[in-house]
Amino acid sequence: MEVSVLIPAAGNGERLGLGPKAFLRVGGRTLLEWALAAFPEAAEVLVALPPGQSPPQGLRAAFLEGGRTRQESVARLLEAASLPLVLVHDVARPFVSQSLVERVLRATQAQGAAVPVLPVPDTLIRSEGGAYGSVLPREALRLVQTPQGFFTALLREAHAYARKRGISATDDAQLVQALGYPVALVEGERTAFKITYPEDLVLAEALARAWNGSPQAR
Ligand code: C5P
Repeated sequence: MEVSVLIPAAGNGERLGLGPKAFLRVGGRTLLEWALAAFPEAAEVLVALPPGQSPPQGLRAAFLEGGRTRQESVARLLEAASLPLVLVHDVARPFVSQSLVERVLRATQAQGAAVPVLPVPDTLIRSEGGAYGSVLPREALRLVQTPQGFFTALLREAHAYARKRGISATDDAQLVQALGYPVALVEGERTAFKITYPEDLVLAEALARAWNGSPQAR
């Protein structure tokens, strides 16, 4: 697979409060190990770690120091990428199937930028002064996941543009969109959720048991 997988893993996992998520264990492996296992055929894997963190031994990846924000960490990874396509994947999403990776890659090859999304199952509202405010039309809204795929040159241009304009974003597709380039949507996966809160770990342990028992799911 002629793609560079970029894994921003330099966050401190503040909301979870258990240290950097990359080294959190679920089902006997670290989240970083789970994330790497999602890309068994990647020709290049680059991981950004928190500054001062010594890289784990024996993993099929190159490590570099992350930045102060996710965006800065991805920008550093992007500088080091040597292949024409990149997949950017948050270390906090351990359960990514092979079919999700293939969907994102196919759409990226065809359209230059692609992200997995999910419909929003709940009613969505604005909280207005702590009270039930206006209802947002959930049919038009989507939850955005990773891995996100891009032509490497396009994502580099988007990051350079964002730096120049002072744009900061929580994912990479936003930067590509800010540059005026369309981002294709592919079907995401509910199991590819982001481990954010302590109760997510309970779910993750259960999923890890299911996935460890059926490697073909990957
Ligand atoms: O904080 P959030 O959940 O949005 O982080 C998303 C991803 O970005 C995580 O994988 C985290 O490790 C990474 N990150 C990073 N460098 C930072 C902050 C977050 O690589 N400075």
